[in-house]
Amino acid sequence: MFQYLTFALVFMGSLAAPNLPPIHYTISRRGGSFTAPDISNLTYLLEQLQVVEFRFNATTRAFVENKVVRKPRRLHGTQASSTLLGDVGREGNWFASLHIGDPVQDVDMDLDMLTADWYIFSTSSGTGSFYLDFNSKTYIEAETPLPFPTCREPKDIVHLPSIKRSIPISFALCRPAKQWIRTLLPSGAYLGLAPSTALSQTKTASLMTQLVENNIIDNQVWSLVLINGKDGIFSIGGTSAPSLRRAAIETDDELIRSRTPEMKRDGLVVSRTATEIETEAVLSSTEWKWSKVQGAEGWWQILMRGIWVDGVKALENQPIVLDINTPFILAPPIAARAFYFSISGSRQLPPPYDQFHAYPCFNPPKIHFEFAGWNEEVFKGKRDKGTFSPGGRFSLGRMAAGSGYCVGIVVESRMGKGIPLGAEKGNIGPRTPMEGANGLEDVWIVGEPFFRDVQFAFDWKEKKVGMQRV
Ligand SMILES: *[C@@H]1O[C@H](CO)[C@@H](O)[C@H](O)[C@H]1NC(C)=O
Ligand SMILES: *[C@@H]1O[C@H](CO)[C@@H](O)[C@H](O)[C@H]1NC(C)=O
Repeated sequence: MFQYLTFALVFMGSLAAPNLPPIHYTISRRGGSFTAPDISNLTYLLEQLQVVEFRFNATTRAFVENKVVRKPRRLHGTQASSTLLGDVGREGNWFASLHIGDPVQDVDMDLDMLTADWYIFSTSSGTGSFYLDFNSKTYIEAETPLPFPTCREPKDIVHLPSIKRSIPISFALCRPAKQWIRTLLPSGAYLGLAPSTALSQTKTASLMTQLVENNIIDNQVWSLVLINGKDGIFSIGGTSAPSLRRAAIETDDELIRSRTPEMKRDGLVVSRTATEIETEAVLSSTEWKWSKVQGAEGWWQILMRGIWVDGVKALENQPIVLDINTPFILAPPIAARAFYFSISGSRQLPPPYDQFHAYPCFNPPKIHFEFAGWNEEVFKGKRDKGTFSPGGRFSLGRMAAGSGYCVGIVVESRMGKGIPLGAEKGNIGPRTPMEGANGLEDVWIVGEPFFRDVQFAFDWKEKKVGMQRV
């Protein structure tokens, strides 16, 4: 009890004493955990890596009012101007369940840290999850169309879990025309979580902004904590380990009311593991450690001060972009090679798999990520419970049946195509390319594996990222 209290006090102090309770959503990874077979499937891993690079490659950088900002890459073709960033219903996206309308409709809401728009995408494909405006008594039609083609901005009642409130919220409702190819894509809701509105295409008010304006939340923070490879909790308006369990239980109630028996079971899994996480957080947490967002305005990019391999600093001052929907850790080629150089017995795979490196399974490296004022051991321990895991959590599986080598979770990116044009403010690194380039040649993409090690808080007002051990 005493420990619990201490934790609560530390916690309140470090997050500027929020007055209103946060909203907690349980989240899941579409398609389940990223597959971690005993023997890796390099064809599959390479395909997934290309999916990641494709998602990151959808934006570029530009000068806007003397600032470097990230913005959607200009596409060509007649339907290009109506192409929204993001992949609604994509396998591997983390998503929550949006309850909207009267009677309540249950729409999958994908989370995306690389985009900034809040919209519902409605196609005639018959796949994905649907919002039917004509079935909702509380739907309010938009008076004027949005400047973005195929989208309008209506309102409907959104039912918020855990705090149990319902309020009218506006959103972009986008419907590609019947003859367009995009109408073959899945339907669903999409919540962009990027910190910069420069990435916004619809130029509508985000869900978060509306929650603040309506005094539903007063802490401009959202947070993520993963429980395992397929369940987690997404909180808006704060983050709080002590209330996690309660949140999970309440969400269970809703799931029990609205979902199939299968989903109900998933909800219960979340609540049980959330209890375990709470206990751990109470025992080991000291306080949140914050890092300022830096680099081109757009994504959640922070500075990693050091990467340590078996007690030796292998790299320092590496800019990283955080993205929960990436199942790997991507490093610029030079950095990846320096990293594996520090792991004895490791080697780069031959083409076409040369983005991957392997290391002796029996001897996984001890890796620490260092940030301003703290240091965290990452990727330690076993992979998902109940699985045989040669090489531990750092492993993507054995290279082949009977092989003593495992494929490492740190992989080389091939995204950086820099055209040096000018200096990017606040970006530490020897090369600083600009316009036309995507600016990813010196940047790490730190994905879901690291989200398993820490709980994150994203402060979109102060533009900073908080982390603490889970
Ligand atoms: C490996 O992945 C590829 C591409 O996803 C798939 O077609 C193939 O069936 C997989 N092989 C095995 C042995 O699972
Ligand atoms: C990124 O996009 C550019 C322009 O569309 C293309 O030339 C390049 O090959 C893409 N790179 C990757 C890694 O997808």
